[in-house]
Amino acid sequence: MDLSNTLNLKFFLAIFHEKMYFRYMMDDTPQENEREVCICFHVPLHKLVKFYRLHHPAVPSLFSQCYSAGTGCGWCIPFLQKIYEQLKQGQPATIKMSKEEYLSRRKEYHRQTNYQEKS
Ligand code: FES
Repeated sequence: MDLSNTLNLKFFLAIFHEKMYFRYMMDDTPQENEREVCICFHVPLHKLVKFYRLHHPAVPSLFSQCYSAGTGCGWCIPFLQKIYEQLKQGQPATIKMSKEEYLSRRKEYHRQTNYQEKS
């Protein structure tokens, strides 16, 4: 095997490993990965997972550097913290709540905190 083939094989393995790792860190369903965690800034789960993978943030609040996640109404902050812990422990990132319930609870949170959404 010449040097060129060795480099190609290493490159292929690196790409394959990266894709498999990224898949492992995400939930299985594409709908779940596209699901917005931060509704205020439309930040989906897969963007948070990618941010974590690339930047290895030291604390959950650094997710704010990922499209400003968590810097609007604040509803998603506990979920960002949970996702951070899941990823830190090498578990797939997921929200254990239906999308409908998530949105409904967020609306209730806004009502309780008198948060006015900007339109
Ligand atoms: S939903 Fe993330 S800050 Fe409002």
